[in-house]
Amino acid sequence: MTTYAPPKQELRIPAPELRGAALALGSCQDREVCIEGSAGTGKTVGALFKIHVLLSRYPGARALVARKTNTALSGSAMVTYRDNILRGRRDIRWFGGSKEKPAAYYYPNGSEMIVNGLDKPEKVQSSEFDYAYINEATECEIEDIEFVRMRLRPRTTGPEVPYRQLIMDCNPDAPDHWLNQRMNEGVTMRLTSYHEDNPRYFDRSTQDWTEEGREYIFGILEGLTGVRRERFLLGKWVGAEGSIYEDAWDRRRNVIDRFPIPAEWPRYLVVDFGFTNPFVCKWYAMDGDGRGYVYRELYKTKRLVEDHAKQIKQHSQWGQEHGDPLPRMVLCDHDAEDRATLERHLGLITYPAQKNVSAGIQVTAARYRPAGDGKPRLMYFRDCLIERDRELVNKKKPTCSVEEVDGYIWDTRQGVNFARVYAILTGFIDWSRHGYTSAHAAASSAAGVRNNRRGQEAAAAHR
Ligand SMILES: Nc1ncnc2c1ncn2[C@@H]1O[C@H](COP(=O)(O)OP(=O)(O)OP(=O)(O)O)[C@@H](O)[C@H]1O
Ligand SMILES: [Mg+2]
Repeated sequence: MTTYAPPKQELRIPAPELRGAALALGSCQDREVCIEGSAGTGKTVGALFKIHVLLSRYPGARALVARKTNTALSGSAMVTYRDNILRGRRDIRWFGGSKEKPAAYYYPNGSEMIVNGLDKPEKVQSSEFDYAYINEATECEIEDIEFVRMRLRPRTTGPEVPYRQLIMDCNPDAPDHWLNQRMNEGVTMRLTSYHEDNPRYFDRSTQDWTEEGREYIFGILEGLTGVRRERFLLGKWVGAEGSIYEDAWDRRRNVIDRFPIPAEWPRYLVVDFGFTNPFVCKWYAMDGDGRGYVYRELYKTKRLVEDHAKQIKQHSQWGQEHGDPLPRMVLCDHDAEDRATLERHLGLITYPAQKNVSAGIQVTAARYRPAGDGKPRLMYFRDCLIERDRELVNKKKPTCSVEEVDGYIWDTRQGVNFARVYAILTGFIDWSRHGYTSAHAAASSAAGVRNNRRGQEAAAAHR
């Protein structure tokens, strides 16, 4: 009897040109690997391409593509995947997710790419994966990495794969960041990627930057200042030394997981106007001990005030069953015309925030630090950002208040101990400081220290 073995089919996967770390990643079989470097070196394309190759190569394989928050993931790595990997392919189908099932791309060979924010771990809690990719892994805690790593294991119905792997990518952060330490210790394999590795930005035949590369590296990244320049342009793991809040701010303490906010906690809106610089609206809730929580944030450029107002109302759902209570106060930057527009469209009175820079810094720093009970008095919900502004992402500018903190720098050039805000950050950082001072004042008045007449009037107006 003769047996018939079907001829082995050659699998052809259209590939981008890969160089440096992105190329090395292809053959790397370490359990845990991180591709790190300056902004725009091709890390995400390299990581996603490897996941794509593995899913195509092993029918029935399952990969997790994750980032700390779902909002950030859909606005970043998933756009890169569609533009650079899928490129119009229709046979890989998108499923948007349901209450129980996470969102995913389904491959024609039965492989799956699950797409999920690690802020919503329930949906992948009981799943097993062959591969995982964590985008911008420095945003995560080490527990998140361990959570994902534990899920890399064989499945009864899964294919036989030669190895399972956790891939991460990131821009550098502080030198003592757990991920840098983990790479130093060798637990995570470090692959460093450079701008010359990105074919879009560097032409190997001429050994020169392309037009786009010149614009991005020398136009955008060169214009960054302080710690952001060191990390995003030069790819260095440097701390925020010299930044105003270096001793006060600690991401692990000041950025927390969301919890249900009791309806009776007073709410405040703090708004800074901007068009080229972002328009920022922060929703604060205050607990009985005077702790402020930013539970929602709108941070967006190039949109009209009236459109922002619509979005603010839509998310606040004032007066609806599960909506927010009306804010006790809406504090704004001083622009009279913008304030009038906002008031008209929100149907709420607004108040100008106090602008006292040094008092604002002191209050904010004190609130970032842990109080006697070990908890700070100002915290951000990790997933408070409503939507990530693509243009700010591309320009490597902060895309939310949490990302601004390292950018507050002391200017001592004239021997003056004054917080000057450098080039790209002008405006909204100033606002963030004085805005918060006023929110603090408002909170004190809400707590019974009713020494602020405007605060009382506003509270009365919104009750
Ligand atoms: N191998 C490649 N071939 C062609 N273009 C590429 C390649 N890698 C990256 N690019 C292009 O360069 C741009 C930046 O790539 P990518 O998003 O992967 O960079 P990154 O290093 O992840 O950046 P960031 O540090 O901002 O996350 C993308 O728009 C992509 O189209
Ligand atoms: Mg990236």
